[in-house]
Amino acid sequence: MTVRPIRYLGDPVLRRTARPVEAVNDAIRALIDDMIESMHEAQGVGLAAPQIGVGLQVVVLGMPEEEPFALVNPRVKSRSGTRVMDAEGCLSVPGYRGALQRSVKVTVEALDAHGRKIEITAEDDLLAEALEHEVDHLNGILYVDHIPDLGKLQKLRGTGWVDEGEPEEAEEPASSEATDTRERATGTAGKR
Ligand code: NI
Repeated sequence: MTVRPIRYLGDPVLRRTARPVEAVNDAIRALIDDMIESMHEAQGVGLAAPQIGVGLQVVVLGMPEEEPFALVNPRVKSRSGTRVMDAEGCLSVPGYRGALQRSVKVTVEALDAHGRKIEITAEDDLLAEALEHEVDHLNGILYVDHIPDLGKLQKLRGTGWVDEGEPEEAEEPASSEATDTRERATGTAGKR
């Protein structure tokens, strides 16, 4: 297993639509192993293949205290309800968190690491949030795309997907221009 570098906001691979996996073979399982190791190294709870520069529909999820697992070719089969997440983050946007709306209940169908069809339903928990977040990645969507005013992103001392640091005051006044915030986020990412 190999830890692969995380791609950051501004890298075009994060904006491309990932291709479906045609066969869940040893090469895909090796990719999954690398993704799980990379996710753990980065202290994340989810990682999509484009985040390590691979344009395939593969995600891994690792909820705290639970065995990590992979979803190949995941599709959101159904979602219902809305809730506001107050501090979502992304390994590809290190050092920031933001509030956005997610579904309460999410059902995803996919293949597992052995190519078997599986279906996962999560409700009102971190997994439900992560399922939508990671499937978004496969469609070139980042969580910040769901936040109308990027000036409201919180800057953190830590970098993790989950709470690795306390919010701190922005060093400069938050801009209402979305593009300014994106550039600041990218600049921060580039230092890591
Ligand atoms: Ni992410």
